[in-house]
Amino acid sequence: MILVTGGAGYIGSHYVLEERARHRDVLVLDDLSRGHREAVLDAPLVTANLNDRRALDELFTAHPIEAVVHFAAFTYVGESVAQPARYYRNNVAGTLTLLEAMRDHGVRVLVFSSSCATYGQPEYVPLDERHAQRPISPYGETKFATERMIEAFGNAYGLRYALLRYFNAAGADAEGRIGELHEPETHLIPLILQVASGRRESLQVFGTDYPTPDGTCIRDYIHVEDLVAAHSLALERLMGGAAQGIYNLGTENGHSVCDVIDAARRITGRRVRVEETARRPGDPARLVASAALARSELGWRPKHDLGDSVSSAWRWEQGRRYGAR
Ligand code: UFG
Repeated sequence: MILVTGGAGYIGSHYVLEERARHRDVLVLDDLSRGHREAVLDAPLVTANLNDRRALDELFTAHPIEAVVHFAAFTYVGESVAQPARYYRNNVAGTLTLLEAMRDHGVRVLVFSSSCATYGQPEYVPLDERHAQRPISPYGETKFATERMIEAFGNAYGLRYALLRYFNAAGADAEGRIGELHEPETHLIPLILQVASGRRESLQVFGTDYPTPDGTCIRDYIHVEDLVAAHSLALERLMGGAAQGIYNLGTENGHSVCDVIDAARRITGRRVRVEETARRPGDPARLVASAALARSELGWRPKHDLGDSVSSAWRWEQGRRYGAR
């Protein structure tokens, strides 16, 4: 059985759906502070916080957990600047509690959701895994600190682990059952689609004076189903005995904010009103992955492009999902 922390969140819920489609036994742990109960569909769910050691002990005692796929975290860069204590408590201390419980219950395999935010301002692109890690937000710092903690548990207690550094997660389940729903929403693609569907007036484009061909920031948008596939491959590799792996997960293709808006206009056939505004502090001009390592060691090949991400997210946006809204 695989324990999936944060399995009611955006990426975690897609992972749960995929593993269940492959008839893998999963158990979701989520405190539902940011996740959505509806997102787990009918998968078994334990509602508890990672810092609740007693709940973790009960769960590891009651279920034959072989591995943990750890998505649970707060993920807003801006909020992490205003409330760093919350981020360190949830992301770092929460993972420490989880790791101690795993050690004490003899669970030795972990796949961890990390982020390209651990790199900070890129010194070169595409970014490979050897790029220096100098995070520029408390959010990025929590992911960086957690990576180091996991490595130390690997060295000291024999934990086998994969650190997966996501670039910009995008898209939704092809059948529209689950998708991205953050409150408040801050991510580019869902915001553009809210404008396209008429739920939002306009999209603010944060900065048009970056040193890029059209002046807007370039990102590597990776479809959530491709991210999920990388988790399954990383887990298989660890279960096969591998000690550790660190992988960037991106398509290796960069798209500017203007490219994404154009794709959304084309796919939806709707008008998308935009407003050019100042840069958002902390946004690097370009973030594009080198995913050569995931390709060679995991055999991972992203199947989806930006168009697939936008069209699946559009299906989800139109589906008016999760009763919460
Ligand atoms: N953007 C806009 N207008 C908006 C929202 C975003 O122009 O209303 C731009 C941003 O400036 C950025 C791009 O669209 O250039 C993508 O922004 P997102 O907020 O969708 O994503 P980020 O690249 O900021 O964030 C992602 C992850 C974070 C992670 C970060 C690492 O969502 O978890 O990459 O840099 F920390």
